[in-house]
Amino acid sequence: MRKKVTIVGAGNVGATTAHWLAAKELADIVLVDVIEGVPQGKALDLLEALPVERSDSSVVGSNDYEATSNSDIVVITAGFPRKPGMSRDDLVRANAEIVGTATREAVKRSPDCILIVVTNPLDAMCEVARRISGFPRERVLGMAGVLDSARFCTFVAMELGVSVDNVHAFVLGGHGDQMVPLPRYSTVAGIPITELLDEATIARLVERTAKGGGEIVNLLKAGSAYYAPGRAITEMVDAILKDKHKILPCAAYLQGEYGIKDLFVGVPCRLGSGGLEKIVEIKLTTAESAALHASAEAVAALVKALP
Ligand code: NAI
Ligand code: 2OP
Repeated sequence: MRKKVTIVGAGNVGATTAHWLAAKELADIVLVDVIEGVPQGKALDLLEALPVERSDSSVVGSNDYEATSNSDIVVITAGFPRKPGMSRDDLVRANAEIVGTATREAVKRSPDCILIVVTNPLDAMCEVARRISGFPRERVLGMAGVLDSARFCTFVAMELGVSVDNVHAFVLGGHGDQMVPLPRYSTVAGIPITELLDEATIARLVERTAKGGGEIVNLLKAGSAYYAPGRAITEMVDAILKDKHKILPCAAYLQGEYGIKDLFVGVPCRLGSGGLEKIVEIKLTTAESAALHASAEAVAALVKALP
């Protein structure tokens, strides 16, 4: 049977994700949005591209949730994006209500789905989805780490003048300015970047990664990134739908791992058909662990601010 993916929020990130999913023929897709005509129009436009792409994914747009029934995965991108000068944290109250409604309506019709939350502030919105769905942690994940790691890879590849195909990078922590890129575990053709770049250069790339979302916001002036986020979401969907047992950095609800409890934080996760299969615990230095805990504290402060 064909897999079904619902994307709530047919804005920049939602529509771009639909584009990647359809081009890869990963699933049938339902786009849901509150604006009349927008999910229908974007879905039809995308559907009309697929004969050229030779993809048989079906793409449907709707303003209600009936069309989403029995989805395997529900991706939540509904909400307001960050505007210039606005931190991800400013978004918490406005987006909690939207994510709450989206979760409630979606899980009513797809009680066995896996939720992938994208709306910012990411880690706090994952907590909203977890509380409202009542799902076990295996089925509530947040997308941020794949995006943040891809940004780090981009900057490392640019700096060294090597193919991005050679670069693997890991970014942990919350999806905020205190995220934790891990140079020791970031490699080029298997060689840690700490062997290839000096400390000052690595610090510069780490800083650019942590502020990567803001860099795009400042350039676009209206709205935030969507090409890389859409592709990053697709990577998580692919790992789940194909039961790949793939390790990706995702926001997961920690239950003592890394010394953190009852909080969504970005960590290496093994993903398969049931969602989160395992949280991989890697050894951190004292400084890395302190940075991860500082990032987790920033998430905890946001969760406290939830309505
Ligand atoms: P956008 O403004 O282009 O799209 C958001 C869409 O949500 C709009 O079409 C809006 O009509 C819709 N919406 C609002 N309330 C809704 C509701 N109750 N039900 C259904 N749809 C609703 O924004 P964009 O760029 O797509 O970003 C979406 C969210 O994703 C933002 O919160 C942004 O900060 C976040 N984001 C997170 C990333 C991550 O790494 N976790 C990366 C990029 C964006
Ligand atoms: C990003 O990192 C806005 O969180 C979004 O691009």
